Order: sequence, then C-alpha cells, then structure tokens
Amino acid sequence: MTAFGPGKVILLGEHAVVYGYAAVAGPLSQGMTARAKPADRCELKVPKGISKHHRQALQRAFERAAQNAGAPCVKVELQSDLPLSMGLGSSAALSVAVAKVLLEAADRAVTPKNVLALAAEMEQEFHGTPSGVDHTTSARNELLLFRRKPGAPNGTAKVLECPKPLHVLVALCGERPPTRATVSGLRERRERWPRRYERLFTEIGRVAEEGAEAIREGDLEALGDAMNVNQGLLAALGLSSPAIEGLLATLRRAGALGAKLTGAGGDGGALIGLFRDPRAAARALARQNIHCFTSQLAGPGGPQEANR
Ligand code: MEV
Repeated sequence: MTAFGPGKVILLGEHAVVYGYAAVAGPLSQGMTARAKPADRCELKVPKGISKHHRQALQRAFERAAQNAGAPCVKVELQSDLPLSMGLGSSAALSVAVAKVLLEAADRAVTPKNVLALAAEMEQEFHGTPSGVDHTTSARNELLLFRRKPGAPNGTAKVLECPKPLHVLVALCGERPPTRATVSGLRERRERWPRRYERLFTEIGRVAEEGAEAIREGDLEALGDAMNVNQGLLAALGLSSPAIEGLLATLRRAGALGAKLTGAGGDGGALIGLFRDPRAAARALARQNIHCFTSQLAGPGGPQEANR
C-alpha cells in the first residue's frame, strides 16, 4: 500500500488565516510518500537523521493516528522529495500520506473527510492549533481559498480555477525557526498591540480575497501585485529578514510578477515567485547555487486536471 501527500505553498494569507481570515494555498508536485507493509503490530519506521525533537513529535503523531484508525498491523515507511521544515507543509504532507495508508490498511474508506480528520489529529501533535490550511490543501490536492473561524473544528475551502497555467518558483533561503515558535511570537505581539495587529491581519485577508479574484480571472499581474503587498504586510508583522528580502529581490530581478515568503517565515525558509514560465529563472538561480524548484499550482495541465 502506497499513498502520496503533496506539500503546499501559501500564495496569500499565512498567519492571518490562524485568526479567521482568508488564505490562498495550492499543492506542490513534491511531497511525502508513505508505504505500508504487513507487520505484527502497527508501527512507524522512523527516518534516519532527524532530530530527537522531530522524532518524538513524529512518534506521538503516528501513535495518535494509528489509534484512531484502529491500529492495523502494518509497518509504515516514509519517503520525501520535499525539503523539510521549510514552510512547504512537510508535516501536513506526511500526515495526509500516513492517514491514507492507515485508512486503507484498516479497510476504512479513504474519503477526503476521513483523511482530513486523521491528518488533523497528526497536525495537532506537530503544530498545536494549526489553522488547517496545510493539511486541507494537501488532502484536496487543489488550489483553494481557505478560511476557518477561530475555534471552529474545520475550515471551509473553495476550489479556485485559473484559466491560465499558474506556476511558481520555490527558492530556499536557509533554516528557519519552528512554525509553532513563530506563530506564538506573533500571538504575543498581537495580544500586546491588538488594534494595530488586527488592522494588518484584516488587510492580509482582503489581499487574499483580491488575489483569489485575480486567479479566477487569470490576471497573473494582479495576483503578483497582491503577493508583493502581502509580503510587505508580513514584513510589518515582523516575519521577514534581510536574507528573505535579499532573495525576494533576486526573484523579482529574475522576472517574478510577485514574490513573497511562504508558510511561517521568520528568518529563512521557502520563498515563492510567480512566473508565466519559471524555467529560465530556475536555471539562473541554480547558476547562483540557490536551491530552487518549480511547480504548477493550477490552470490547464495542473493538479486539478490530474485529480479528475
Ligand atoms: C503554516 O504553513 C501557516 C501558518 O499560517 C500557520 C497555520 O496556518 O496554522 C503560519
């Protein structure tokens, strides 16, 4: 039994989504694969080379999912072609892949609802109280406009169709702090200066909705502008750094219609640039020894078509 969970990029709206505002996120072609083989008990083969902290979180998340799935007698192995801990939804991709193989091994229906519920249990072990945008995007494998009211058990997601191919270039900007730490640091600042931070979150939510409209219309220039404005708001929230801004300038010089950090940010992690065709920029960045790859998020030839 084999199952895949795609990684994700947040095009617009990270962090504000935790407080109930809209976000736009799409699936990557890179992700996590889980393989289950018959065994004496339900267990996980823990990947080599991960830190003690990550190993413990992974074990806890797996045990929680295994119990919920009825502990089928399988040994689950993981394989990734997604950079880990970079803001690309590796824990959500892992949760979705594991949820799918455990459900299948337990002879339970591998429906989006069941996958989402099991993946959500695992994501809580990894991130505490995530908005759910990461594992919803991975489980649905579609470009989504996502929103979750604070305290609600689940979010709502609308599929965003794009009449044109929507490509991003993902560039890596070094290690970053854990998502949980960045989210809780921002929560503290928001509690201290609530009116100012609420204004910034409200504006991010608006920019996400405007970006969603630009996607529906196939207006990539308007989407790029929304991404640039969103990056400015993330910087105002204290989530950018000189290294991030420097690499964003490189992406824009390489022709990006818009560029921003994606995921929790803070200091490093993954950045995205929106391109009509990202191949020349990917070659130019690779020549500068910048680790990068491309992915199509929506439009003709994208993941939505593959789902059908
Ligand atoms: C992390 O990929 C996205 C954040 O908005 C956190 C969350 O939504 O739970 C930073």
